[in-house]
Amino acid sequence: MPQTKTIRDVKRLARQHYALDSEGIHGPSHWERVCENGLYLARHSEADSTIVQLFSCLHDCCRENEQDDPGHGERAAVFSETLRDQLLLSDEDFAKLRYACTWHTDGRTSDDPTIGACWDADRLDLGRVFPAGPDPRYFSTPVARHPEVMRWALACSRGEDRLPPAYVKDA
Ligand SMILES: [Fe+2]
Repeated sequence: MPQTKTIRDVKRLARQHYALDSEGIHGPSHWERVCENGLYLARHSEADSTIVQLFSCLHDCCRENEQDDPGHGERAAVFSETLRDQLLLSDEDFAKLRYACTWHTDGRTSDDPTIGACWDADRLDLGRVFPAGPDPRYFSTPVARHPEVMRWALACSRGEDRLPPAYVKDA
């Protein structure tokens, strides 16, 4: 019986698997911001915080370059399969994690609160490469579209250390 992996274990395995510069734009510092963004979205929605955390460290861990790298989402989903028996996830939740990893590269949106939170958490960190930050039309969740949330995440994506907005209401 394989031993259950914690989120910390999965983060460590994803770092070990990551073949690119660990200081690069798709590396662990990006994963940490995606994780923080995703946990914030989960606190203010129905999104599953465990799936969001797993997505944050897995979605880019199989990249082969820092450009478009088609297929890196599918490779992340395949990598997640190697951990399947060691994650305390239902089949339905694992399928969501796999789907979120596979399709995070395609500019899609989702009505599923957890898949939407995964993709929005990633897009909220776009300011590290696009100074204007993400286009809110591509967000799936109302929380990510909130101006205060976008401002906070944009500042963090540019390397500022900022506390998240304490309270989110409809914009
Ligand atoms: Fe990413």
